[in-house]
Amino acid sequence: MARHLITSALPYINGIKHLGNMVGSMLPADVYSRYLRQRGHDVLYICATDEHGTPAELAAKEQGLPVAEFCAQAHDAQKAVYDGFALAFDYFGRSSSAENREITQHFARKLNENGFIEERAIRQVYSPADGRFLPDRYVEGTCPHCGYDKARGDQCENCTRVLDPTDLINPRSAISGSTDLEVRETKHLFLLQSKLQHEVEQWVARHEADWPQLASSIARKWLNEGLHDRAITRDLDWGVPVPADTWPELAAEGKVFYVWFDAPIEYIGATKEWADQDPENRDWKSWWYEADDTVRYTEFMAKDNVPFHTVMFPATELGVREPWKKVDYVKAFNWLTYYGGKFSTSQKRGVFTDQALDILPADYWRYFLIANAPESDDSSFTWEHFTATVNKDLADTLGNFVNRVLSFSRKRFGEEVPAGGEPGEAERKLGEEIARLLAEYEEHMEALQFRKAAATLRALWSAGNSYLEEKAPWLEIKTDKEGAALTLRTAMNLIHLYAVVSEPFIPATAKTMREAFSLPDDTAVWVTQDEAKALTAVPAGTPFTVPPVLFAKLTDEDLATYKDRFGGESA
Ligand code: 2FM
Ligand code: ZN
Repeated sequence: MARHLITSALPYINGIKHLGNMVGSMLPADVYSRYLRQRGHDVLYICATDEHGTPAELAAKEQGLPVAEFCAQAHDAQKAVYDGFALAFDYFGRSSSAENREITQHFARKLNENGFIEERAIRQVYSPADGRFLPDRYVEGTCPHCGYDKARGDQCENCTRVLDPTDLINPRSAISGSTDLEVRETKHLFLLQSKLQHEVEQWVARHEADWPQLASSIARKWLNEGLHDRAITRDLDWGVPVPADTWPELAAEGKVFYVWFDAPIEYIGATKEWADQDPENRDWKSWWYEADDTVRYTEFMAKDNVPFHTVMFPATELGVREPWKKVDYVKAFNWLTYYGGKFSTSQKRGVFTDQALDILPADYWRYFLIANAPESDDSSFTWEHFTATVNKDLADTLGNFVNRVLSFSRKRFGEEVPAGGEPGEAERKLGEEIARLLAEYEEHMEALQFRKAAATLRALWSAGNSYLEEKAPWLEIKTDKEGAALTLRTAMNLIHLYAVVSEPFIPATAKTMREAFSLPDDTAVWVTQDEAKALTAVPAGTPFTVPPVLFAKLTDEDLATYKDRFGGESA
């Protein structure tokens, strides 16, 4: 049994996230965590809201709230949506926590002691119209590399290159739009990443062969461009303060750490929050500090986060010169598009996670999103594709099977799993097929190939339908009642097997399917090959109920309503 540490990119505190954020980080992390737990591994899935930085300050100002209060409310609002999506975090923390402050300051002190931090006077963009220094991402302009005209001063989201605000052509304030920008001198702490380039290269070289190509190619690209020293403090009110014992002057000036310095540390901070909430979790450090080989750390994120996690944060961890756990596997995602265009929080285009749950329960979204995860390429969300997938896979293939089998059996044999009949060639063939597909499903899940895993899950559901069509118990019953009982009992065993193995994708439906059977001691967490072949875990005589329709079929009218509400094409 391995210990699996799992994290997903920390969602920024401001704003409810859209489906693109969900599919590229938290949802696959949850599916994987659930799968590993079912397979008996010790899993710690940690996430948190990323609360510092200017966006939070500005959003709080807009709402007329102190920033701490705004963040507390926004955290709860996000957490409620994630609960709605059934994301089973072991802990969902907050980067503004005391724990993160303590660990971030500790990291900074250590980096300083080890000669990786230097104080430098820099010239920074100041906007008189806004009355403040403009953080990098609040300077907008044209990317010098690709010409994208909405590039931000920290990173161009079009070509993913990391930028400095002064690199931008025709810069303007993203807050007020003012082009009256000055450059003023201010002192900041710099992380001397250039001194760590060689070590990071060696570390990446040891890992990249195991990473998906998307992650290793981004890490390489970044390393080839060379690691530059980077300012890790900002002139803001909201953030982890620079510790006064080490930098009294900067602390007195109210400098705080840059949000991208403290955010990755919050993975550790949130683990300590988890421990501080419950004395039972006091071994938290064993996941992170001097963790032995039994801890495997997998991170989930969209591709824009990859440079930070394959290069920059490892550089920080290496520079601290303490044995903090570094990532073993980076599962990176491309973009989910909305009709081929960008989902955009700021431009309110696409479907937001709270809206999604208003329309349909989480399992519809969970299945669709994972089955179409942008793994090897971008993938596009369209309402047409969504409704067709729900109808075909969830309503027809799975839902209809479950309802048909249980209702028909109840009608003809009453409310217990029917007895009679001996398994024959059809059952043997079915068992072989289910066992083969189950092995394939496990293989894809172990390899974190979620689209393939979803396709195999669908194939498992289809195998039940083929069996039912072949045996046609509604005809069989006319001539061979025992044979019909065997068919229905076998199909009910499939339903129970589906309940167990579909749990990572559609946990609520899985629970409903499982609870249809009153098995006295239903503790099955997974299905062995032998069990898959035998299909006898639910014996004759087990009482059952017929659950309500598992997945509603979406009509043309529903489709029209969704398209009307959200816009049926990209802007
Ligand atoms: O890109 C984002 O949404 C960031 N909030 C991710 C931070 S991930 C990590 F470093 F903590
Ligand atoms: Zn660019």
